Amino acid sequence: MKPIPVIIDCDPGVDDAIAFLLAKQLPELNVLAISVVAGNVSLERTTYNALGLVEFLNWDIPVYRGASGPVFRKRVDAADVHGSDGMAGIDLPHTRRVVQDVTSWDAIYQYALEWKGKLEIIAIGPLTNLAMAFMKYPDLPKLIKRIVIMGGSTLLGNASPAAEFNIYADPEAADITFCAGVPVHMCGLDMTMKALMTPEELDSVAEMGSKEAVFFHDVVQGIVEFMGRLGIIGINMHDPAAMLYAADDSIFKAYPAGIRVETKGAITHGKTVTDLFSDAKWQKNGFVVMDIDRDAFVERVFELMRKY
Ligand code: RIB
Ligand code: CA
Repeated sequence: MKPIPVIIDCDPGVDDAIAFLLAKQLPELNVLAISVVAGNVSLERTTYNALGLVEFLNWDIPVYRGASGPVFRKRVDAADVHGSDGMAGIDLPHTRRVVQDVTSWDAIYQYALEWKGKLEIIAIGPLTNLAMAFMKYPDLPKLIKRIVIMGGSTLLGNASPAAEFNIYADPEAADITFCAGVPVHMCGLDMTMKALMTPEELDSVAEMGSKEAVFFHDVVQGIVEFMGRLGIIGINMHDPAAMLYAADDSIFKAYPAGIRVETKGAITHGKTVTDLFSDAKWQKNGFVVMDIDRDAFVERVFELMRKY
């Protein structure tokens, strides 16, 4: 089967970095470009991290710089989880690479035109760049085949009791994206909290010995410690799970759903509103990914990391 032409829109970010490691080795994906957004840390840092990661991976793909903050709101970040540099203090190689002189939203439109409706977007950060693209280019929806996001949840949150971080960071952009007319496959916390890797499994990756495998192990240790303080042993692989879903959904369970985002609530803003039941009267604008075969997920991660 021909690899899927994709753009990865991201906010690297520790788990974004792991998603890069996997994406480069996934034969099912033809990664055309990286698009960066403010999220876990500032746009300056997420851009620096994206350039450093493609250098580290010797990955010859362009990087586009997008939004420095949400459409309407004050920027929030997740530096308490990912570190102030967004990479848990792990150094990335210095690079002479620079971002393209086209914004992310203009680049998304240009690739969408070029791929004539076959392009898919894998968005693993706040959805500001996608919202900007949809607002600027009214004909864009018919040129994008599918959007796979890491974000949202039918029940719990992580940035607040109501909201997952990527949606919480820009609820308006998320609702614009869900309502744009492109099917959105929501890899939310319902599934990604089950995409847990244990410390022993992380050690097994490091023992593979490549610089990429050692990086994989080392860069997540800060979050492993953070999760330990919450009583969770290991790390939930949010972005890597969404990346694998985009490549091959055979180890996941997804259900058609109507999905909207709460944008008015002083406390509940950023909540993805869907429950696979009372949304029956809503237009089915997407799919909620509810389950993952965790062991198969870990096996796939091992298989991909052995390729380095
Ligand atoms: O809630 C987890 C998501 O928020 C991940 O994409 C992580 O990188 C942060 O962006
Ligand atoms: Ca992310």
